[in-house]
Parts: sequence; structure tokens; C-alpha cells
Amino acid sequence: MGLINATTTSDFRAVLEKGDILFFPEGGFEIPASVRGALMGASQDARSIHKNIAYKPNVDRVTGLVDSAETEAVRNGMREYSRLALRFMADILPAYAANWKIDYASFRSIEERGRDLPLTKRNDLLHVDAFPSRPVFGDLILRCFTNVNPEQPREWLVSDPFALLGPKEAANAGLARFAETAESGLHKLRRTAVRTLRRAGLPLVDRSPYDAFMLHFHDWLKHREEWQRDCPKYRFDLPPGSTWLVFTDMVPHAVLGGRLALEQTVIVSRASLANPQLAPSSILERLAGKPLSA
Ligand code: SIN
Ligand code: FE
Repeated sequence: MGLINATTTSDFRAVLEKGDILFFPEGGFEIPASVRGALMGASQDARSIHKNIAYKPNVDRVTGLVDSAETEAVRNGMREYSRLALRFMADILPAYAANWKIDYASFRSIEERGRDLPLTKRNDLLHVDAFPSRPVFGDLILRCFTNVNPEQPREWLVSDPFALLGPKEAANAGLARFAETAESGLHKLRRTAVRTLRRAGLPLVDRSPYDAFMLHFHDWLKHREEWQRDCPKYRFDLPPGSTWLVFTDMVPHAVLGGRLALEQTVIVSRASLANPQLAPSSILERLAGKPLSA
């Protein structure tokens, strides 16, 4: 488990799929001073329901700001970071970019140390990512972070990746229950109904059993005190100006301290991995003995 300096390898897919963090100490790409300027002043409410300031590239909108007078400047800054980060990611990972789905970007402006959040939203507890509103159906969550804090590192903690975590903990977390549901008539009926209502415009989410398990696993890991205490842990200080990429659904992670990070997410198709067997969905399907991602 490690932080792999990008200058030491050219096989970036292998690094990411192994569950390591692909690290660009110098940042990998240039973020113009105008972007930093636009974002540094953005005010975010620590108690807001929005954990971060989010930017949705597909609709060019920001959420999570306190002061709507800042919207225009922040949107411009986020749009530019999103564009640059996506270009950089596509450049270094063309095989993924060929059919990934562009997800949101975010700006993390609040100091993470001592942040007061409800347990399942806490960033300082180790977890794998899963998005309640954006199911992935077996595909993977790849995130590119940049620490734009000129002084402070961003302090990360990670644990062993899914290839080790899954076989150890998925059964304890109730994987069998989710796998059984996958085949029940009621589950199929419910999903057909959800899809019909979605087409009619209702804001419902159609999730695969894999997505349902991962949402549950995210919370389950945060609740499990002994695992939080005893699991293998690796500490990394990500320095000012650095960029790092990681599959955050494959690698349990937590942030202990730091403020002012930018991030862009893409959803990578499982089929575009050099080794699709390493996807969390493949690992869970092997453990469950059946498909979970449809
Ligand atoms: C997270 O994805 O859990 C937070 C990581 C970060 O903001 O550094
Ligand atoms: Fe996370």
C-alpha cells in the first residue's frame, strides 16, 4: 500500500488498480493564479448540508456556497479546474478516458481537523466511497485531488485495498443479504417500478445490489470501532501543490487534516481496467458467487 511517485513508472493503470495512490508531487498540471484567486475567497458554511462546494460540469452549476454573490467567480474557477484536471487525467489515462463518465468536481475549503459532522459523514473515519444519488453499476470511482493550500499538507490515512478488505469484511457486513435480494422477485419488481417512475420524471434512484451494498459498507465501516482502530493504516502527508489520483471505492481512506483541496471525479468503466478482476464489484461478485452489478 503506498504512494507511488508518477516519475517512477509509466504503467499508471497498474498503480491505481493495485490500490496505490498515483502521486504527482509537483502537481502534474498548472492551475492558473486566477483559479486559485477565484476560489480562495469562497465562503462555505461548516454546518451546511453540503459537505463541499460542488461543481457539475455537465450542467455548469455550483452548489454549497453560502453567499450567492460569489457564485459567478467560484463557478468560473471550478469550471477551469474541472477542465484542466479532466484534460490531465485523459492525457495520462487514455484507456480509461475512452469511455469514462464525467462526474462532479469539488472544492474542500473547510479545515478537516476537528470538523463537526454526523458519524456517517465524517471524513476522518476510514471508508470506501459510494454516492447515494449516482449509482455506478459495478464501475469505479476515480478521483483526482490537488492540494491548493500554499502552506499546509493534506493529511491522509489509507488502509489495505478491496482485494484484501473484501474477503476479510464483506461477509461480516452482510454481503449475503444483498446477494439474495438480487434474485428476489420483489427486488426485480421494485426496480422495474423505480425505472418507470424515473422515466416519468420522479427523482428516484435505481441501484444495483452492488450499489446498495457499497452504500451500506461505507456506513458500516465508519460504525465499526474495532476495525477503525485495528486495521492496517498508512499515513501520507500530501504537500502543498501536489496532485494525487486514487480509486476511492477500492481504497479505504480518511482525511485527518488540511484545507483547500480541489478534486475531480470520473466514473471508470470496469471493462476499461487493465485487470477488471480487481474492481470491487468483481471481488464482491466472486465472494457472493453471482452478478450484483446489473
Ligand atoms: C474523502 O473522499 O473521504 C475526503 C478526501 C479529502 O477530502 O481529502
Ligand atoms: Fe471518501
